[in-house]
Amino acid sequence: MPAPANSVNKPELVVVNDAMALARAAAQEFCRCAMEAFAASGRFCVALAGGNTPRTVYSLLAEEHRDLAWDKIFIFFSDERHVLPDHPDSNYRMANETLLSRVPIPEYNIFRVRAELAATLAADDYDRRLREFFKLSSGAWPRFDLILLGIGEDGHTASLFPGTSALREQSQLAVANWVEKFQSYRITFTFPVLNHAAEDLFLVSGESKSQVLQEIFNSPPGQAAYPAHTVCPQDGRLLWMADKAAAHLL
Ligand code: 6PG
Repeated sequence: MPAPANSVNKPELVVVNDAMALARAAAQEFCRCAMEAFAASGRFCVALAGGNTPRTVYSLLAEEHRDLAWDKIFIFFSDERHVLPDHPDSNYRMANETLLSRVPIPEYNIFRVRAELAATLAADDYDRRLREFFKLSSGAWPRFDLILLGIGEDGHTASLFPGTSALREQSQLAVANWVEKFQSYRITFTFPVLNHAAEDLFLVSGESKSQVLQEIFNSPPGQAAYPAHTVCPQDGRLLWMADKAAAHLL
């Protein structure tokens, strides 16, 4: 779907029938963003979301879009759990099983969070590699062509959970974030990275997300009830894709 001309800073919402339709629409948007990025810069820099919702998107990309120029696609992660890369909870493992191991993408195009390190070391290492890749001068921010995001029932996105220290981070690109309810660290992009992207794409599926989605879309601008509500690209597109089960209260 082409990006409307006046889409900067205004959240757009696309509602589709069900989870499969959501995955198809998201895969199409991924490809659209990729083609746009190839034309503009010769490469596509995309950050993948973790959790369950994106699994089918990644499988569809592997099964139906193997012909993309994967050698010009650079894969990052919006966040990662503090576990080994082969752990069942690893976002890298999920993306590798569903997509990365099934398409001809060079290993060096994949920027896995080295979550086997101590959490702060993993975050600092990821931060450093991001700055190197995007050739950032001090105080500059990367401009991802696309950042995929999900949302939790508590309104978190990436691993920016309510009440956690990472919500306040304004200088690092990636930080280790202690999440009390999990009694564990997460490594996550910070809000400035999300808000400097060319496009942030939220994927929301299922009845369990309907309440938080309604509160986000119905709360007045500027009153960020939840972390996900703080995502607002300064010069980019904010696109929400939801299935009917998630969007039925809107
Ligand atoms: C993670 C994700 C997280 C996820 C939401 C939604 O590491 O879990 O980055 O932000 O997107 O929790 O997860 P589901 O898609 O599983 O509902």
